[in-house]
Amino acid sequence: MNIKNICCIGAGYVGGPTMAVIAQKCPEINVTVVDINEERIKAWNDENVENIPIYEPGLPEVVKEARGRNLFFSTDVDAAIDKADMIFISVNTPTKTYGIGKGMAADLKFIELCARQIARVAKDDKIVVEKSTLPVRTAEALKNILDNTGNGVNYQILSNPEFLAEGTAVDDLMNPDRVLIGGDIDTAKGKEAVDALVDVYAHWVPRERLLTTNVWSSELSKLTANAFLAQRVSSINAMSELCEKTGADVNEVSKAVGMDSRIGAKFLKSSVGFGGSCFQKDILNLVYISKSFGLHEVADYLEQVIIMNDHQKRRFAAKIVQTLFNTVSGKKIALLGWAFKKDTNDTRESAAIYVADYLLNEQAEIVVYDPKVKTEQIYADLDYLNTRSSEENRARVTVVDGAYEATKDAHAVAVLTEWDEFKELDWQKIYKEMLKPAFLFDGRRLLERKTKEDIGFEFYAIGS
Ligand code: UDX
Ligand code: ADP
Repeated sequence: MNIKNICCIGAGYVGGPTMAVIAQKCPEINVTVVDINEERIKAWNDENVENIPIYEPGLPEVVKEARGRNLFFSTDVDAAIDKADMIFISVNTPTKTYGIGKGMAADLKFIELCARQIARVAKDDKIVVEKSTLPVRTAEALKNILDNTGNGVNYQILSNPEFLAEGTAVDDLMNPDRVLIGGDIDTAKGKEAVDALVDVYAHWVPRERLLTTNVWSSELSKLTANAFLAQRVSSINAMSELCEKTGADVNEVSKAVGMDSRIGAKFLKSSVGFGGSCFQKDILNLVYISKSFGLHEVADYLEQVIIMNDHQKRRFAAKIVQTLFNTVSGKKIALLGWAFKKDTNDTRESAAIYVADYLLNEQAEIVVYDPKVKTEQIYADLDYLNTRSSEENRARVTVVDGAYEATKDAHAVAVLTEWDEFKELDWQKIYKEMLKPAFLFDGRRLLERKTKEDIGFEFYAIGS
């Protein structure tokens, strides 16, 4: 089966970059990315390719090459579904904020809406690919909706979880460790659909990295991978607190441990806490599924990863208050970085949001600088927590365009995202313009201690 037309529903952090790379690597396939968000689609079509809605290194170049040739962005969802042989569903699946499974289960309403729309529009056979991170057995639900509400069309459902990390998405897509494709491999039709997607990726990914499994294994593998990665971060963060008490240094511990080839060096960097749209959501999802099967020990074990992460964020904020003589009331605290990690403008679940919220509860005045995050996003993130009115958030939090503006006259500076440019700042100048004693809190182990202490800073870094 030869795929000629691909449609992707959802032009977000996953759908956008993934489709751009598929289009670039498969010039003979037409790829149309659709979204109900008109503003987002308009930005993807912006003449100046630097204005696409997602900041991701290397992405503008890829979009520039393929857009208008075989890569299209549109709000006409029906037309794109109708034309496609293969439809990727790449819509958001946030944690439920209401009803059964509130705060834990993934909200599948956007997925279900997509399925119903596909069922309504499709007139010929389609391969439907789950790209969003989903709870195990979502494919079954999808198939149920499609088969029971469709126009007698034959659907094959594949699971093709995304492993790209934001900030390195283009490279992760170009050189993936593996691509996982789950399908109904025991039937001829199912196998044909799996092979069709394998052929798409085989344009640039070596065959031995294309793993095919049954659908359930594929869905569960994605959640497991994220749980393992998050667990490593929580493990090293747990050690960071112990390091601070014992005089050990978490970076040294992490290096020594990571050199054990059985453990490996990646994802052992202690921080103010992991964020992002996946880790917490996927673990909560696993916790919810485990509980629903009565596997309480499994659920508790996994949940501890989140508990540790929340503790790390709170602990960092509390350290600031405690160090500033137990009160930050009316004090100006500069936060450098708001994104959940460097090289992205994504702020979902960013530790910065929770640190800011904690400090605001302690009546601090917050000034934020992030090189890529828009002002409105910062307010939206705080408003979403519902801790105080949005007027109060706007009155107490100021967002500025540069690090020096943020740090001038501040009582304390906290580094919350590991943007490279923060390393290169003129820290002497920052020190000079701050109130004394000048407190500097490094939540990312980004800055070198000695040079900062020589300048005169009271320096605190996670895990040392
Ligand atoms: C993650 C997975 O890596 C990716 O495979 C999946 O598809 C989506 O979820 P992402 O959330 O984009 O990707 O970023 P990731 O690089 O995994 O970082 C997640 C969080 O953990 C960030 O806040 C990061 O700062 C933090 N982190 C990561 C640490 O604190 N220490 C580390 O050693 C690594
Ligand atoms: P992710 O990180 O998973 O890509 P995003 O929130 O960045 O998540 O992107 C998901 C996109 O899916 C959003 O732009 C949203 O507007 C879009 N979306 C959600 N539901 C639908 C739908 N039924 N049809 C089209 N687009 C949708």
